Amino acid sequence: MALLPILRFPDPRLHTIAQPVAQVDDRIRRLVDDMLATMYDAEGVGLAATQVDVHERVIVMDTSDSRDQPRVLINPEITARSAEMHVSDEGCLSVPTIYDRVERHARVTVRALGRDGQPYEFEAEGLTAVCVQHEMDHLIGKVFVEYLSPLKRDRIKSKMLKKSREEQSRIRR
Ligand code: NI
Repeated sequence: MALLPILRFPDPRLHTIAQPVAQVDDRIRRLVDDMLATMYDAEGVGLAATQVDVHERVIVMDTSDSRDQPRVLINPEITARSAEMHVSDEGCLSVPTIYDRVERHARVTVRALGRDGQPYEFEAEGLTAVCVQHEMDHLIGKVFVEYLSPLKRDRIKSKMLKKSREEQSRIRR
């Protein structure tokens, strides 16, 4: 397994629309395993393929406290959404150190293929529902900061650009 570099906002590649996976083969299983390793290493609860610059509909998640319940969603579709909405603080491995409030459906039903290529369906609520909606946004090129005001988004953009400049100069030194 390999750790994959994670794209950082405002990298324009984060706005790429992912294509459906044609076949769950060894290449996809390797991608899934690398994404899981990368997500656990970065201590995230979810990671979309878009974030590792692979533009296919693949998501990995683990919203358990014990960090041992990996969930793999290939070609995920939301088949039902609650009318009830819920606001919670979100963060993203592509926007490190930034957390802000986003409104999402409180519950969603999701259909996807697993790592074995078999279809399955589950109902998500709480953090899992937030995570599913957040990661599925990545697959359509949307980062959570796009739900915030343009002013906040611009501030975050400047902060991220400054952060990466500082990191670059540390690497060069
Ligand atoms: Ni994210």
